[in-house]
Amino acid sequence: MPSPLDPTLVEERETVDPTLDLEAEIQRLKRERNAVILAHYYQDPEIQDIADYVGDSLGLSQHAAKTDADVIAFCGVHFMAETAKILNPDKKVILPDLDAGCSLADRCPPDQFAEWLKRYPDHVVVSYINTSAAIKALSDIICTSSNAVRVVESIPKDEPIVFAPDRHLGKWVEKNTGRTLVKWPGFCVVHEQFSARRLVQLKTQHPDAEIIAHPECEDAVLSMADYVGSTTGLIEHVAKSRHHAFIVATEMGVLHQMQAKRPDATLVAAPPESGCQCAACPYMRLNTLEKLYLALRDLKPEIDVPEDVRRRALLPVQRMLDLG
Ligand code: 13P
Ligand code: SF4
Repeated sequence: MPSPLDPTLVEERETVDPTLDLEAEIQRLKRERNAVILAHYYQDPEIQDIADYVGDSLGLSQHAAKTDADVIAFCGVHFMAETAKILNPDKKVILPDLDAGCSLADRCPPDQFAEWLKRYPDHVVVSYINTSAAIKALSDIICTSSNAVRVVESIPKDEPIVFAPDRHLGKWVEKNTGRTLVKWPGFCVVHEQFSARRLVQLKTQHPDAEIIAHPECEDAVLSMADYVGSTTGLIEHVAKSRHHAFIVATEMGVLHQMQAKRPDATLVAAPPESGCQCAACPYMRLNTLEKLYLALRDLKPEIDVPEDVRRRALLPVQRMLDLG
């Protein structure tokens, strides 16, 4: 495998005129292209602020399924844009930075997954939306963090289930459904960094704060949480809560919408156990306003899914959407 540091492999990035009014240019291009901008909560605040819709993985796929725009500019990671393409084969789906991957999706290669599935021939295959189109094509139904429990509960009790690729989300679903799942051993590099030890320290400093966490965190972290939910779930929980302080164990991008909904609240971002003390997803943060401008201007990088894979992947995605 060639080294990623090989200078011949580094693509020259166009520099954008720094005097350009990027927001105005993006709005202009959006109108010209009849484009819609969809953004995940882990995007930079300036991207969230210019998006037509900001949401969690489920909300984003529901939105992608019903848009009548010709172009979907997806400010999120590759699997999210790919899901939009699976749902919209005739639309152009662009992702500002094609390298915006996901550790969960990247560490579940389709050939290894297909081989692993051979050990569980009679199992229903439930895959997290954080997977490639090729993995979705090997699955029976897709779930997101906001509907994983509901999806598993929709499967008859006597049917065995394999769950991929997030072992922590899988364990959390097991706890909440009483079902036993055969779990692929994947994890998110951002959420796996949170530790119960750091949460205990933070709780001592903020004794009145509620701990809220994303189900991609490990069990020891989730056991300390007062509320566990998807990014939308976490934001809605803070919006409605009578508490005034929150320790938030997920990617720090969610704080932007949380603070907008609760300007009075103290939001404390849980730090990773070690290293850099900010919990930012290295993939999500590859997208920038400049790259979004270039993507809308040049209509690339474009997401493409081979038609046979797309058709097979659509079925389990549609099953999830039909569950509501
Ligand atoms: P949500 O569906 O909760 O937004 O999660 C997406 C994700 O990638 C979490 O790391
Ligand atoms: Fe993937 Fe984790 Fe980033 Fe979410 S936060 S996109 S699961 S690497």
